[in-house]
Amino acid sequence: MRITMVGTGYVGLVTGTCFADLGNEVTCVDIDQAKIEQLEQGKIPIYEPGLAEMVQRNVDAGRLRFTTSLSEAAVQSEMIFLAVGTPSGEDGSADLSALWQVTEGLVDCLPASAVVVVKSTVPVGTNAAIYRKLRERTGRECFVASNPEFLKEGAAINDFMYPDRVVVGVRESETELKLRHLYAPLLRTDKPFLAMSPESAEMTKYVANALLSTKISFINEMANLCQRVGGDIDDVRRGIGHDRRIGFAFLFPGAGYGGSCFPKDVRALGKTAREHGIEPLILDAVDQVNNRQKSVLANAVLERLGPSLQEKRIAVWGLSFKPQTDDIREAPSLVLIDRLLEAGAVVQVHDPAALENVRALYGDRLVYAHLPLDVLEDADALVIVTEWTEFRHPDFRLMKERMRQPLIFDGRNLYDLEVMREQGFEYHSIGRPIVLGRKECNETARK
Ligand SMILES: NC(=O)c1ccc[n+]([C@@H]2O[C@H](COP(=O)([O-])OP(=O)(O)OC[C@H]3O[C@@H](n4cnc5c(N)ncnc54)[C@H](O)[C@@H]3O)[C@@H](O)[C@H]2O)c1
Repeated sequence: MRITMVGTGYVGLVTGTCFADLGNEVTCVDIDQAKIEQLEQGKIPIYEPGLAEMVQRNVDAGRLRFTTSLSEAAVQSEMIFLAVGTPSGEDGSADLSALWQVTEGLVDCLPASAVVVVKSTVPVGTNAAIYRKLRERTGRECFVASNPEFLKEGAAINDFMYPDRVVVGVRESETELKLRHLYAPLLRTDKPFLAMSPESAEMTKYVANALLSTKISFINEMANLCQRVGGDIDDVRRGIGHDRRIGFAFLFPGAGYGGSCFPKDVRALGKTAREHGIEPLILDAVDQVNNRQKSVLANAVLERLGPSLQEKRIAVWGLSFKPQTDDIREAPSLVLIDRLLEAGAVVQVHDPAALENVRALYGDRLVYAHLPLDVLEDADALVIVTEWTEFRHPDFRLMKERMRQPLIFDGRNLYDLEVMREQGFEYHSIGRPIVLGRKECNETARK
């Protein structure tokens, strides 16, 4: 099948490349000339495990191309996927300007039988609005479908190639058949292909993200309470997770969720609810709890070492909003860094993939290190924000040698409390008792 993928970001580049890998002929379009030039030179503008090899393989096989010309790509296509960004607007609603720009661009080059498939996450009613606009502007019948994407950055290829389900929102059975045919190779193990109205498909994506965000904010609030009442959220998490009605997924406490989806989608769904006369009590609370949670690490550091952090060096491990990605959109690390800088600290940061994105934001206001141990040099404390696997089994002895004092604030509960006690660290985590290390550490810990 000949496919155009408009928008070569985290979703467009991955899904376009995967479609090519399944034997389709795919042209990826982006408005960003520099990005397209990079891709044409074989460079991948984002970090996503396995993607570089897959892009190269499909470019070499002649199935994957890149261009900035929407019309050149679209005129030859049977399916035109829209995967442009839909970031938060100032009032929390989804900013659909990129989507409308592409829709306008399609008016003069949309082949008569081509299906426009909206993969971007869009508020309910957007598919219908795109359909109306294309029909009016082309003066003929058009085919527009919704196909929300559920992949996760960091595991995007695997998620796309082995989906739990494929959801499509369609108006006509012929479009459903075309999409069913396109996705058939991914559904050979009887994973469901769920066809519904475009409105239900649009809602499905938001409801999924809102529920996952709700679970995270819920467990974070419970973790904060555990800390106050002397409980251990890790025990509580196990205690509830074994209940099959509850389970373990998305119930790990942490420093708040970030990224390009959960925060903006929760806000956009809340906006939709308001527009339809429903006060989104749960969604508002989920967003508020998350904003508060993004400050817990900074609060703990300031309480322990502040209020002024002049003369203090704070090391930070993990900057991306989650492991296995370089994406820092709405990342909790940014809230922490801002607070530490504000209090006068020297902030030394390390991340396996996101260092350059953070450098683009902060320039020489931070100290950057490519190795985790290097940021610990003379550090008064280490703060762990993102749970990259390489932070799970560090050499605690070497860490202590580099640091001014053995003090860790862990926003992802990576370490066993008993191990930290044995290693002599003062160790603050989320929703668990504070470990004061061995005796010699206790004096410093109590200030
Ligand atoms: N990132 C995720 O994990 C994820 C997962 C599921 C769904 N989504 C949704 O998918 C959509 C895309 O997300 P993303 O993270 O890939 O965004 P992104 O910001 O990484 O990429 C968007 C791309 O669209 C391009 N673009 C903007 N305007 C354009 C135009 N007029 N013509 C051509 N290209 C244009 C941008 O240059 C950019 O490369 C969003 O709606 C998002 O909510 C994202």
